[in-house]
Parts: sequence; structure tokens; C-alpha cells
Amino acid sequence: MNICVPGITIEAMLRSGASDRTGTEGDTAAFELPDDHPGVSDRAYRARRSAIAAVGRAHRRGQPIADVEYTSEEDEVWRIVAHELARKHERFACRAYRDGAAAVTLPTERVPQLREVDARVHGLTGFHIEPVPGLVPTREFYGSLADRVFRSTQYVRHHSVPFYTPEPDIIHEIIGHANMLGNPVFADLYEAAGNASRRAESDAALDFFSKVFWFTLEFGVLWEDGELRTYGAGLLSSYGEIEEFRNAEVRPWDLARMGTLEYDITRYQPVLFAAESFDRMVDDLGAFFDGYDEEDHERRLATGGGAPAV
Ligand SMILES: [Fe+2]
Repeated sequence: MNICVPGITIEAMLRSGASDRTGTEGDTAAFELPDDHPGVSDRAYRARRSAIAAVGRAHRRGQPIADVEYTSEEDEVWRIVAHELARKHERFACRAYRDGAAAVTLPTERVPQLREVDARVHGLTGFHIEPVPGLVPTREFYGSLADRVFRSTQYVRHHSVPFYTPEPDIIHEIIGHANMLGNPVFADLYEAAGNASRRAESDAALDFFSKVFWFTLEFGVLWEDGELRTYGAGLLSSYGEIEEFRNAEVRPWDLARMGTLEYDITRYQPVLFAAESFDRMVDDLGAFFDGYDEEDHERRLATGGGAPAV
């Protein structure tokens, strides 16, 4: 069984050229998947992807979120992964994430409906979880965070490889991101990130921003009680990689390097950046998001690796 679980985000996939592959509305015959996708030759799985995408496509902001009728097979995938990840979070997740997850209290035996996750998270921090049919444009995805809206896919990874997903499925979105959004400190950081993305008008500035997002809220680590723990949704939703991140090359916190370092979304991350503490991460990352705009981006590039510490 392939247990490689690179944490892949909507934002990263879009930069690599992926798009909403759901075809036209009402088309439930075939959902396009890349040749190396675990479900590419499974017609039933592709039909499920189309049907679930149609639910997200029909959603309108402010309207009730329609339920997806998940199959017993999909519930089983959720159950297996949720149980395994919960055990690993005890060992590898930072305290603030665990507090958020405890507050959100996702079901462990079945795929949760976004309707119920949205109600729970919104009651805790005012953040909404909103369904989307597939991948959304990068600026829209980040920009929604400024409105305290997290746009989430609803499909489940292929049952043949429950610990692997080549794209952001509901396990990544909800166990990785929604649990974090149940913590008010993280919710504020996500909103600040959304505001920063809106001030990044050029593609270059958005690229720098999204790389910082990648090395922090997707793959960030920090020191807590003498141990390296993670607050990154990519690691927190990744059955295989969460066990491996302590073996990566762990560099000190460096926003200038994060914003310019290329990464490969298809493999375990070989380089991670560690904050010296949770509070330091919140202060430094929050200050970066709050002060980020075109001018700040230019200044950071001009100073190269020696960008002023925030
Ligand atoms: Fe993500």
C-alpha cells in the first residue's frame, strides 16, 4: 500500500496548472483524472467525483449547504484515516491544533457533512466552511480567507489507497484546515493571510505570499516542550509524512527564504522551517501578513536573504 501522502493544496495545484476538471454541469459520466491518479480507471469512482462536484457547484454563499450522500466505502476511508491521524496528532501536532480539533469534534466513523462542520467552526471562531466543486483560482481561494471563508472540496480519496491522496480531498481540508479554524488564534491568522493575499496585486507578490503560506500554515513546524511539532495542515492530514517530518532538514524561521524557496508538491518536503515557539510563530507570521503588500514584497526581494525580521 502506498502510504506516501504529500499534502497537496488547492493553491499549489493551481500554480502547477490544474483546474476544475468536472466538465459541464450535469455531466456525471466521466470525471477527468490524471493518468497516475489511483482512481483513473475506476468508472464508479469517477462518477462519484462528478456527483459530489455537482453538489458543490450548486452551492450559493449564504444558502444552506446541501448534504452529500456518502457511500459506506467513503465512510470507511474516513474512519480508517481519522482514527490513524488522531493517534498521530497526539505525538506530532502542536497543542493549539489539538485544542482546535477537540473543540470542533469531528465524527470519526463517517465523513462529516460540510453543513455540520461549518456550523461547528462558525460557532467557535466565526469562520465559514464553504463547498466548492473542485479547484478554485488561487486568488479566490486565498481572498476568501479575508472574509473568514474557507473553501473546501467534498470528495474522498480513492478507497484503494486510504493513506494517499494526490490532491486536496475532504480529509485534507477538514482534518487539516477546519480543525485549525476551530482555534481563534489560527482563525485570525488565516484571515490575516487572506488580507495579505488581496494586497499582493502582482503575480510575483502573490507567489512569494503563497510560498510563505506553504512553509507555515501548510507545512510549518515549531518547538513546543522540547519537541518539534507541526501546525501545518499538509502534515496534519498526511498519514505518512507526519511521521517523517522530524527527519527533514529543519531550518530556523526565515520568511525571506520561505518566500523564495521552490518546493515539490509530489514528495515529502525535504526542508521545513521551525518557529522557536507557538507564540513566536503567531507574532512573526501575523506581523508578516499584516504588513505585506507590493512595497513590502519589493523590500524583501531587494534585501535578499537578509530581509528584515518581522
Ligand atoms: Fe491545504
